[in-house]
Amino acid sequence: MRNYDFKVRSKRWIKFLANSIYERIRGLDFSMVYVGELQRNVEEFHGYSMTDSGDMKRVLQRIPAIPQKSAFLDVGCGKGMCLKCAVEAGYKSVAGLDLDRHLLEIARKNMDRLNMKVDCIYANATDFARYADYDVFYFYNPFGKTIFQQVIGKLIDSQMERNREIWVAYYHPVYGDLFEQAGFTLEQEIRDKTRDTTTRIFYLPPRRDGEFRA
Ligand SMILES: C[S@@+](CC[C@H](N)C(=O)[O-])C[C@H]1O[C@@H](n2cnc3c(N)ncnc32)[C@H](O)[C@@H]1O
Repeated sequence: MRNYDFKVRSKRWIKFLANSIYERIRGLDFSMVYVGELQRNVEEFHGYSMTDSGDMKRVLQRIPAIPQKSAFLDVGCGKGMCLKCAVEAGYKSVAGLDLDRHLLEIARKNMDRLNMKVDCIYANATDFARYADYDVFYFYNPFGKTIFQQVIGKLIDSQMERNREIWVAYYHPVYGDLFEQAGFTLEQEIRDKTRDTTTRIFYLPPRRDGEFRA
């Protein structure tokens, strides 16, 4: 399989080492060595791992929203790599939420070091009450089916507070079908064959009068 090709593996190791040195010099930490109490890959709360920055940049380029007019939220932001990429992509505002305080603290430090103005919010995605503030949502397989269903319901309900286009980018989309079942349309599927990753981009148009759920 190409993923295990010697050249591909060597390139990854070189990239990993270069990133580690860069992070060490700049006082950053996006490393994936952390396993906290809440991070044990249990059925509903999945653990921390990081979206590759190259993948994230490509994904952001494919989301049809206009960054300068859109607010971005990473649901389960971990140490904040995707927040960094979203700021660099020019989003009007950028925020991330996570239920692991330790990871959030690292994310805040990373953003401070990078001099980036980002809101790092401590919250469980199921309790978060401000989805209406955002237009573009990013998920890297943060949780299981039951939680996803609740969060998708909240995204849809947030149109009652602010009726707008909603874009979702879902990396490693294990529960992608849930978005379509809830009324989102699948706009694009991005596959990276060398890294063996998939991202789906979903769209929910603004509601017309009378279309709101009871
Ligand atoms: C796979 S990591 C992704 C991190 C980051 N988005 C990235 O791509 O680099 C998933 C994150 O979701 C967080 N998470 C899991 N369940 C959550 C929940 N119910 N509410 C908020 N965050 C959650 C975890 O703490 C973890 O940091």
